Amino acid sequence: MIEFQSVSKKFGSNFALENINFLIDKGSFVLLIGSTGSGKTTIFRLIIRDLFPTEGNILLGEWNLTKLPKGKTQTLRRKIGYVFQDLKLLMDRTVVENVMLPLEFSGVSEKDANKKAEEILIEVGLSDKQNKFPLQLSGGERQRVAIARALVFDPEIIIADEPTGNLDLQTSLQILSLLDGINKKGTTIFMATHNEKIIEKTNKRIIVLEKGKITEDKKTTAKKGEKEEKNEH
Ligand SMILES: Nc1ncnc2c1ncn2[C@@H]1O[C@H](COP(=O)(O)OP(=O)(O)OP(=O)(O)O)[C@@H](O)[C@H]1O
Ligand SMILES: [Mg+2]
Repeated sequence: MIEFQSVSKKFGSNFALENINFLIDKGSFVLLIGSTGSGKTTIFRLIIRDLFPTEGNILLGEWNLTKLPKGKTQTLRRKIGYVFQDLKLLMDRTVVENVMLPLEFSGVSEKDANKKAEEILIEVGLSDKQNKFPLQLSGGERQRVAIARALVFDPEIIIADEPTGNLDLQTSLQILSLLDGINKKGTTIFMATHNEKIIEKTNKRIIVLEKGKITEDKKTTAKKGEKEEKNEH
């Protein structure tokens, strides 16, 4: 469960986010859309405590992130797999080394980190590329590496910031289907996208941001033909 309660975030005198309220249930898959600069990445950075809100509360399970002791931040971040908008892959490391890195930083032995990374690379369909370097991969494959790296701590939540950013439709749909598979195993997914085709095709809940405010939160819980619940703000 991720809950924003009247959250605002100012940079200097500018509001990047203003009075944001939403609740994301455990196990759900929610899309966050909005044009560039609308505040999507800022919402995600608040969730991993890379930023603090100017006002309001952020709850993650039983934790209130505004009150959580600083020492708990690392524990919090292990619950959340973060797929960065710019991926943040190390170009001089192989695929498997990139995926192993967060584990090794946290003190896991090289042997165990390698074993875990190999398992996850199978899960994301990249085991045959594990010894390649990021620049030897396609954009979609690189995105999968970033997703694999986000999975190493078996997170409760995956945050994916524009994971289909520069990909063609078919590759975007493959990434979405990979995330759907991860979601079906119980992981909550909160994903930002600009991809119109994905938005058109999806029946997932969509939170729309405009200039730091939520303008629409469309929760389609119904299957085709059933009633749709729509909350305009
Ligand atoms: N560290 C910062 N200092 C000052 N302003 C910032 C900072 N980070 C973000 N902003 C501003 O906050 C607003 C929201 O930025 P954010 O990165 O959250 O947008 P976004 O929706 O993720 O955009 P994009 O689709 O381009 O990734 C923008 O106006 C941006 O310029
Ligand atoms: Mg962004």
